[in-house]
Amino acid sequence: MFRIAVLLSGRGSNFRAIFEDLEARPLNIEIVGVISDNPKADGLLFAQSKKLPCFVIERKKKEQPLEAFHFTLTQTILDLNPDLIVLAGFMRLLPANLVEAFDGKIVNIHPSLLPAFKGLRAQQQALDAGASQAGCTVHYVVPEMDAGAIIEQVAVPIIPGDTEESLSARILVEEHKLYPAVIRMIAEGKIRLVKDRVIKES
Ligand code: GRF
Repeated sequence: MFRIAVLLSGRGSNFRAIFEDLEARPLNIEIVGVISDNPKADGLLFAQSKKLPCFVIERKKKEQPLEAFHFTLTQTILDLNPDLIVLAGFMRLLPANLVEAFDGKIVNIHPSLLPAFKGLRAQQQALDAGASQAGCTVHYVVPEMDAGAIIEQVAVPIIPGDTEESLSARILVEEHKLYPAVIRMIAEGKIRLVKDRVIKES
């Protein structure tokens, strides 16, 4: 089995899309753990309802040093021994040593056509910049935010009158198709990272 660990912080609609895609067309993929830094995340509740192994790793502000949070996160992931770590709306940067240990084995989805509009509120950034199109990107993860090798992108138009909400919704429809498809191809060995280059086989 190809072992996947999912990290999320909130709504979890991408995780849900991945789960439902695998339910509809099973592959040799096992979701070995869903980790959330937010005990109230809807994505976590969904995972619990599906009886998946769930882990809440909270960083209680002030009380806990970042190192302690990183240590627990790293140990939990190492114990799960995943073949792929899927970031699905995980709102924290991973510790650099974890990213290096899983080089080429961590993916993220971001709601922009990277390298444009990294970071928070990417859809609003695209609107503010007067861009004519936006989209989503699945990429490998490196220690710097939203900066790793790009695997696949899908563009959507920006329509006059778009708001952050309307544009985000248009992009999200594509995210829910793109992310499951890319994860499937990685699990099948059709996409991999070799020396910082994405290799794809049809
Ligand atoms: C998505 O827009 C994704 O691109 C970004 O965070 C959002 C997560 O949404 N990384 P959800 O939690 O998957 O619904």
